[in-house]
Amino acid sequence: MPRNKTDNLGFDATKFDAARTPQIPVRAVREPADATDLVVAVVNPRDELQLLGVPAQIAKQTEKLIGSPLLDALKAQGLSAEKNAVTAWSLPGLRIIAVGLGDDPDVSHETIRRASGAATRYVLGNSAKTTRRIALSLELAGQAQLVAAVEGALLAAGRFHKLSGEAAGESALAEVQIVTTDKAATQAIEHAKATTQAVLVARDWANVPPNLLAPADFVEQAKGLFADAKVDIEVLDERALQRGGYGGLLAVGGGSSRPPRLLRIAYRPRGAKQHLALVGKGITFDSGGYSLKPTDSMLSMKTDMSGAADVICALRAIVELGLKVNVTAYAMLAENLVSSTAYRPSDVLRMYDGTTVENRNSDAEGRIVLADGLARASEDEPDLIVDVATLTGACVVALGSTLTGLFASSDAVADQLLDAAEASGEAMWQLPITDEVRNNLPSKVADIQSGAGREGSSLFAAAFLQHFVGDGLNWAHLDIAGPAWNSGSAHDYVPADATGAIVRTLIALAEKMN
Ligand code: BES
Ligand code: MN
Ligand code: ZN
Repeated sequence: MPRNKTDNLGFDATKFDAARTPQIPVRAVREPADATDLVVAVVNPRDELQLLGVPAQIAKQTEKLIGSPLLDALKAQGLSAEKNAVTAWSLPGLRIIAVGLGDDPDVSHETIRRASGAATRYVLGNSAKTTRRIALSLELAGQAQLVAAVEGALLAAGRFHKLSGEAAGESALAEVQIVTTDKAATQAIEHAKATTQAVLVARDWANVPPNLLAPADFVEQAKGLFADAKVDIEVLDERALQRGGYGGLLAVGGGSSRPPRLLRIAYRPRGAKQHLALVGKGITFDSGGYSLKPTDSMLSMKTDMSGAADVICALRAIVELGLKVNVTAYAMLAENLVSSTAYRPSDVLRMYDGTTVENRNSDAEGRIVLADGLARASEDEPDLIVDVATLTGACVVALGSTLTGLFASSDAVADQLLDAAEASGEAMWQLPITDEVRNNLPSKVADIQSGAGREGSSLFAAAFLQHFVGDGLNWAHLDIAGPAWNSGSAHDYVPADATGAIVRTLIALAEKMN
């Protein structure tokens, strides 16, 4: 059905709207300048509360005003150095926010990122109506700490623009200042802007409801995101998919009147030596198909394209940062619905690489679309292939809702991913693919089957995916079913609903291949 202007509810699926994720200005300053909120740090070495980053002129002003140090004023408000604890006290025209960094003198980047996020969330949460200019003065040293602080603030400030005619382009945060004399500050700010913008766009796409974001709409959003970038964009529509033999993607997308798409974006900078391929699961809505999900489980399935959003948005940042690494990102886009053309449990599919697959469960659609993507990506023989998917509920049962499940072709590859995750402060845990699991792959009616029951179902899914990875190629699979969606409330820099989890890890991975 053609859409009219009111159908889009304020979200125009046909073109990318940069104003949905406005860039908040960030600048490095020696002293807070015209800020509404000053964020300082509070630590607790040897059981003695201590403030870090209080500018001399603020200390003086406080003393003059109340006759005692700022520390006492904040103590009277119940000052705590516990991680992410926020204590506020106001001078005329300036609110002081003390955020806890914990007892450990060795403060990690993630602690800084979270503290900065918690402080920003506090500022915005307590003054939704007035515009704030926040200055971060945390006595930071070095580029990585500066990046973490700016990232925390910008990630916490991002929000979803309601589909109710609310004007996009408004943010309650008008400016972030970072108080520092470090020469690395300008570069740190550029870095943090690129990474956070990628996360915010990925979140936005994953939050947009599925009636407004079908496979072809996702492609239009991505094209808009790369409008001014030097990349090659290839889009396979249903006809091209048929010609190419993408039997998996076509089967999963076959039940929807809004047909599947394969989106491939290639970045080939001068001087690059290594090649990273990223493959994302892009199910714009997962009803479970004929293996229909119960209503409640279906509600968050608009976010089943998070993997695709993550790889495309990570690539946007990689391009912006000018990293010297070849990157090819694939979004495997389909809508898993029920109709007379939907694929059935027990159907046998011929996949892109020729493998025949017995479909055991139409709700195990992610591995089917990824299989075609992994086989396609393998043709270029990249140095590393990473797929990203909200793949299995079992992974959430095993690891909870914040850890990403990692599977890899070797421990060396696993370490590459774990290092990148660590550098980004994103939580990841490795799971095995055992021979016992691989032995369950064969099917009675086809080469392999797509599901083998409930036990160890994340492991089986990984074994299934590995079948489609070219022999000898380095590969990792990230199951983000847990961290992609926060069903609880917002905390530090993590919002409720879509989180954009793992985007920053993918960028860090590319940086290490630079
Ligand atoms: N998209 C779901 C996995 C999922 C579940 C993501 C919960 C996020 C939260 C996936 O397509 C799915 O339905 N997986 C099935 C596999 C099973 C049928 C073998 C599952 O996990 O139950
Ligand atoms: Mn499913
Ligand atoms: Zn799914």
